[in-house]
Amino acid sequence: MLNLSTTYANLKLKTPIIVGSAGITGSIELLQRAEECGAGAVVTKSLFQKEISRKSPTPRFKIVKHTNTFTFYTYEQASELNPQEYAEFIFNAKQKLSIPVIASINCYTDDAWIEYSKLMEEAGADAIELNLSCPHGVHIMSGMNIIEEMVHTTKIVKNNVKIPVIPKMTPQSANPGSDALRLEQAGADGLVMFNRFTGLDIDIEKEIPILHGGYAGHGGPWAIMYGLRWISAVSPKLKCSISASGGVMNGEDAIKYILSGASAVQIVTTVFFKWL
Ligand SMILES: Cc1cc2nc3c(=O)[nH]c(=O)nc-3n(C[C@H](O)[C@H](O)[C@H](O)COP(=O)(O)O)c2cc1C
Repeated sequence: MLNLSTTYANLKLKTPIIVGSAGITGSIELLQRAEECGAGAVVTKSLFQKEISRKSPTPRFKIVKHTNTFTFYTYEQASELNPQEYAEFIFNAKQKLSIPVIASINCYTDDAWIEYSKLMEEAGADAIELNLSCPHGVHIMSGMNIIEEMVHTTKIVKNNVKIPVIPKMTPQSANPGSDALRLEQAGADGLVMFNRFTGLDIDIEKEIPILHGGYAGHGGPWAIMYGLRWISAVSPKLKCSISASGGVMNGEDAIKYILSGASAVQIVTTVFFKWL
């Protein structure tokens, strides 16, 4: 049988396909389905420190067609769980799954980053993904200097847990290549390149923005070119491994990312499309 195993962020994966963080990884049943379908690892739907983010506004999903392409335009709330419940979720996931479970968290104070990371480590998470790159999260929306905040956060989390620490990068940066090098220096064991973009579309009949005007994240098949460009540029300079994320719609896209230097490839939109 073909050997598809890979090493990503010091984790051994049976296959390089990771089902990435979103509602599709928000329950044990869905995580089990990812494993049954051949995922090498899963990243759980993000836990947010900001409690309002745990509540759901609607509508949340729209496929926006534009000439020959489309964008999957979404606003999805964070995990509804509080930190203790989320730690139980991670613990239960570890009982039921045999693949690595990566916990994704989004905090905005140092104390919470440390507390939440330790909780997830104690619950059995195999690694922690740091999600400061949510297109409608507190970090992007407040206009803070994301790369400085990511470097700082990577250092403090790395100093407080033993499991691998994986910052998830934003594509909204002047130079993701130098960002990646800085995050590695800060202690990152792996990098996710990238989260989604911020976007806006306008209904020209009603003359209003559609779907949460400017809050929704957008992504789609077009996003792959951006990821390929930066991963191919920076992977030869990095010791830590990269998980590509953005625009993978089929196996051929995943192969492109691996050829560009990624050790693993995350999928989300294509999994949603099986549902919608
Ligand atoms: C509906 C939806 C919800 C998402 N929620 C999260 C999240 O909670 N945390 C996170 O780090 N990324 C989240 N993402 C981003 C994905 O994990 C992924 O990085 C992004 O969608 C690009 O990959 P794709 O083109 O395969 O969808 C979400 C994406 C979508 C579409």
